[in-house]
Amino acid sequence: MPERTYRVGVIGATGAVGSTILDVLAERRFPASEVVPLASARSAGSSVPFDGQQLNVIELTEEMLGGFDLILSSAGGAVSSEWAPRFVESGAVVVDNTSYWRMHDDVPLVVAQVNDDAVEGHSGIVANPNCTTMQMMVALKPILDAAGIERLVVSTYQSVSGTGRNAIKELREQSRAVLEGEEPRAVVYPHPIAFNVFPQVESFKDGDDYTTEERKVMGETRKILGLSDDVGISATCARVPVVTGHSESVNVQTKQDLSPEDCRDLLGDAPGLVVLDDPGDGIYPTPTAVAGRDEVLVGRIRRDPSHERCLNLWVVGDNLRKGAALNAVQVAELLHERDLVRVPAGASLS
Ligand SMILES: NC(=O)c1ccc[n+]([C@@H]2O[C@H](COP(=O)([O-])OP(=O)(O)OC[C@H]3O[C@@H](n4cnc5c(N)ncnc54)[C@H](OP(=O)(O)O)[C@@H]3O)[C@@H](O)[C@H]2O)c1
Repeated sequence: MPERTYRVGVIGATGAVGSTILDVLAERRFPASEVVPLASARSAGSSVPFDGQQLNVIELTEEMLGGFDLILSSAGGAVSSEWAPRFVESGAVVVDNTSYWRMHDDVPLVVAQVNDDAVEGHSGIVANPNCTTMQMMVALKPILDAAGIERLVVSTYQSVSGTGRNAIKELREQSRAVLEGEEPRAVVYPHPIAFNVFPQVESFKDGDDYTTEERKVMGETRKILGLSDDVGISATCARVPVVTGHSESVNVQTKQDLSPEDCRDLLGDAPGLVVLDDPGDGIYPTPTAVAGRDEVLVGRIRRDPSHERCLNLWVVGDNLRKGAALNAVQVAELLHERDLVRVPAGASLS
């Protein structure tokens, strides 16, 4: 393994994902010679915790270009569309958490321990998938390898931290208001989220009757698992009043027969997964059990009685850790291990 250390910039370091990236970089002792937290002018001059110290937050400006080896970016698609190519031009490899680059042909979309080899041949940007897609990939890859996949039907129950720090604040404030008999005020979401569930995660665009989140789940799943167009994928994404941890009901139709027992054994041996499956005793994954954990939890593994080659699974992951920050750092580790923290000569994003 190379002995290099890296100057690492974390864009969006004051946000829900960026602050978790700082935690994970420190916990996993990523070989950083320096970590620089970057954000907008709004929080420049404030400080963020990193590895027992407080680091000053620096505004993302032109002056920041140059001198970085690696950028971990989570400040929204608009920031990544503009700044990721500029950092690549300045010689840094960018691991991007936003949706902007994910479906770009020249950008690998990587879930660590699922499609690691995709990092080879990157052109300077490696994309981190959507949090909802990410955790499902960890559970589906072993099934794909063992029995093939013919069709997927996914329903999600997504926590508010998936929208960022303002949504966490909104859930807390609305909950307090409702308990005090006041009208909850909705700013981040189209409806109050406290004591509510709504079938809209992100937005409806251009008359599409699927949301942008549902489109991401369907498109990114196909790209990461290399599924052909004849594999059917259908997703419905709902927002629930949970702070952290996305839950998913996954109905998977396999090509070859796979019994629930064999599926349980298969997933029990898979990296990054923990099977919690004794429902009679109340043992199954929940968001409160997964918050703060690196592994994705899976349970309620059972036969779909309507189809002989269909299984139902309940998959729960911490959207801020495996769903975002942990995977971004794991991708950075992969790049380090394979000596790929370098922008290839002549690389360009066509
Ligand atoms: N939350 C999740 O579970 C999750 C999972 C996967 C991917 N993502 C993606 O990660 C990104 C960030 O999500 P989040 O949940 O962390 O959001 P968040 O809590 O709202 O944080 C946003 C961060 O972006 C920074 N920022 C905003 N505009 C900026 C600008 N013009 N220049 C520099 N920094 C800027 C903010 O800095 P200030 O303090 O200066 O405002 C803040 O640090 C989004 O693209 C999201 O889709 C999120």
